[in-house]
Amino acid sequence: MKRTTYAGLIDEKYLGQTVTLSGWVQKRRDFGDLIFVDLRDREGIVQLTFSATNQIALSVAEEMRSEYVISITGLVVNRNDDQVNNKIQSGKIEINVTDAKILATSKTPPFYIENGVNANEELKLKYRYLDLRRPEMQQNLRIRSKIMSSAMHFMDQNDFINIETPILAKSTPEGARDYLVPSRIFPGSFYALPQSPQLFKQLLMGAGFDRYFQIARAFRDEDLRGDRQPEFTQMDVETSFMSADEIRTLVNAWVKTMMYDVVSFDLDTAKIPTLTWQESMDRFGTDKPDLRIAYELKDLSSIVKTSDFGVFTNAIKAGGVVKAIAVPGGADKYSRKDIDKLAQYIERFGAKGLAWLKVTDEGLKGPIAKFFPEGNDLIHATGAKVGDLLLFGAGRTDIVAATLDYLRRQTAKDLELVNQENPWAFAWIVDWPLFEYSEDFDRWIAAHHPFTMPNEEDLHYLNEGEDPHQAHAQSYDLVLNGYELGSGSIRINSMSIQEKMLKALGFTPEAAHEAFGFLLEGMDFGFPPMGGIALGLDRLAMLLAGQENIREVIAFPKNSRATEPMTQAPTRVDGKQLNDLGLFLPEN
Ligand code: AMO
Ligand code: AMP
Repeated sequence: MKRTTYAGLIDEKYLGQTVTLSGWVQKRRDFGDLIFVDLRDREGIVQLTFSATNQIALSVAEEMRSEYVISITGLVVNRNDDQVNNKIQSGKIEINVTDAKILATSKTPPFYIENGVNANEELKLKYRYLDLRRPEMQQNLRIRSKIMSSAMHFMDQNDFINIETPILAKSTPEGARDYLVPSRIFPGSFYALPQSPQLFKQLLMGAGFDRYFQIARAFRDEDLRGDRQPEFTQMDVETSFMSADEIRTLVNAWVKTMMYDVVSFDLDTAKIPTLTWQESMDRFGTDKPDLRIAYELKDLSSIVKTSDFGVFTNAIKAGGVVKAIAVPGGADKYSRKDIDKLAQYIERFGAKGLAWLKVTDEGLKGPIAKFFPEGNDLIHATGAKVGDLLLFGAGRTDIVAATLDYLRRQTAKDLELVNQENPWAFAWIVDWPLFEYSEDFDRWIAAHHPFTMPNEEDLHYLNEGEDPHQAHAQSYDLVLNGYELGSGSIRINSMSIQEKMLKALGFTPEAAHEAFGFLLEGMDFGFPPMGGIALGLDRLAMLLAGQENIREVIAFPKNSRATEPMTQAPTRVDGKQLNDLGLFLPEN
């Protein structure tokens, strides 16, 4: 019995034809002389009928259970009117089976194989191959596959050369913790899995390839979140002799093609806004703003500084700011208890409280209204309307930003104010600071990475006696719907600038040469001006598939503890393997 087509593809066009199908039993309904079986394959579901007119096939159907693998041959006929299901492609027809065979039996699966299944995440990951049988998971991985083919095709059409770079690489301090691989031949020495192909792609520009592209795996041992996995995939690009503007134009063209190929969306790239980092922080409190949400942060410092409300005036005296968002229609929707809950949540950002006011027909209402008898100024400055809820952040600029960014996104989600008219809100964020202060490391780190070229007019900040932290960089991020989709920059291509940059990051010349000597040396052999970008493929696939966790678009992902419940990796290994590697673990 050789398959003639897929179950999910059969519709009225096949009426009167005899087809052979193979797949899984989704469901079986047994009425004695009549048995219905839903047959599922990667394209969808078709209804099979087994009846007394074909006793042999009927007896095979009696044995069938959920998730059995079967093969059938039968005639495509119209369903009875009361049986029509308009929700599926094959809903008007069914197959009168004449011949059937069970190819494999199945135990009862630990959860239903259906969309929206309400099973424990660990259980689904443990039986990932069953989870992946669900139509939505099949769809997610196909979207991912389409993105990759589209990217490959576009890059090829635009003369990019696809070059692979090492996975067993050298540990270079880029930002996150490395995954290390011990060397057997040199006990005590380690390869590092690449955090990105960054240095290799710069060296490829040094080698004259001019346009490089790779769908590259990257590895970072960092705290995991819904949009972060320890290993993930980048669509990685590097070019020579192109300006940042030209690179963004190229990426726009690439994204336009992809959006069309994958979700049939005609993206008008001329309408993608470009914001400076500062503007994004001021207006949205974040460097990855979700532009589907209309309301923004408004700085009220100059208005409230003369008020009698100590929380606000003290924040400003201490060098901080007072900002607010006006949540449309929020006055009725949020009770005091709801606001208390939000206030509790934002403590994690360092917020000390959540002042609020409701805008009513009679002006501002709420516990702090008495401090603002001239409420119209606040209403005017925030652009609030009757029925809106004003939420305030007062204090350190970064804490206020993080707080109001969260509140903006959360309230928009709660009140369904995420504008669906523009489902794909892309934005470019440019003119980043070269450095950022890391609370985790308690020192200044490169905001993008240590190979990012400062703005030309800011180069002098790297000189002895100047403050390097004033410098801004020729870097850019592509944001989609509030996610950082990609990040890139023009690179440093001169050893003297690179050395200054590494010095500003706290590397001694010896440490810099130890870590990046091969790159620094290369820069002395005629390295062209270069720049590039990497887009997170998993994040793009997640967004295009309408998912909220990148696990949903990765076939075999890790859980939030960076383990893989199906294979149980990471696992202990036997003593002999460790001995070979010259590794000795303390007994426990
Ligand atoms: P960056 O570190 O910003 O830049 O990474 C590029 C993009 O990769 C995605 N990404 C991730 N996706 C899933 N899980 C993770 N842990 C993770 N980390 C990053 C993001 C991000 O925007 N070499 C530079 C690029 C360049 O300068 O050309 C780089 O790696 O979508
Ligand atoms: P208090 O005078 O401390 O009781 O605070 C009065 C109101 O201001 C309460 O609603 C607090 O939640 C709020 N509040 C306190 N500190 C801040 C802050 N840093 N930012 C915003 N609101 C605050």
